[in-house]
Amino acid sequence: MTVQLDPATLDAAACYRLMTGVVVPRPIAWVSTLHEDGRVNLAPFSCYTFVSYEPILVGISIGRRAGAPKDTAANIQREREFVLQVAHESEAALVHASAEPFPPTVSEVEQLGLRTEPSRLVRTPRLSTAPVALECALEQVMTFGNAGSQFVVGRVVLAHVRDELYRDGKIETDQLRPLARIAGPSYATIGRLFRFRPNGQRG
Ligand SMILES: Cc1cc2nc3c(=O)[nH]c(=O)nc-3n(C[C@H](O)[C@H](O)[C@H](O)COP(=O)(O)O)c2cc1C
Repeated sequence: MTVQLDPATLDAAACYRLMTGVVVPRPIAWVSTLHEDGRVNLAPFSCYTFVSYEPILVGISIGRRAGAPKDTAANIQREREFVLQVAHESEAALVHASAEPFPPTVSEVEQLGLRTEPSRLVRTPRLSTAPVALECALEQVMTFGNAGSQFVVGRVVLAHVRDELYRDGKIETDQLRPLARIAGPSYATIGRLFRFRPNGQRG
């Protein structure tokens, strides 16, 4: 037996609840952008993935707020750049607080007392504490659905990975400890990692 859900009979909120329950856990892009007055805007986005690896392209789905673009989307389209940070699980409270809909002139970075440092190839600063920060140049924006969600695709022009996390050309996931989102105020951390040995046995 299954519960059968016909999207045509669900309202927007029910569709949103369904998909934020189905696509779990979602990694979080903690995105800094530049407001036109030079302040640094910061917000988390969990509808995100990489869409190509050569070149490296990352995509973030940014919804609208009362029909208008969120500050992040507006800033990215104006400045044509952003920085995507991976948040460590210990930063969960800061990530959650940075999603507050502050007015565009208020910098979440200043409000939350976060430290930033200059990026190398984009003007948008990056978060000093982030284990990974990706400097990105805007590649494309596509609009989807009745709510006009914008799928923002950025090309990674420089990746910063904290040195102790990068070994043999790979990122040590068990030390990265990324935060993931479930829905609303629910989050997850990565549980026990396992791998398959060449003989197919689980190690
Ligand atoms: C963990 C987390 C993940 C989120 N993911 C998304 C997302 O994928 N897309 C989106 O439009 N909003 C998402 N939000 C909501 C935005 O962060 C929120 O609307 C924020 O105020 C946008 O900030 P801005 O107006 O400065 O861009 C998320 C919120 C949280 C707490």
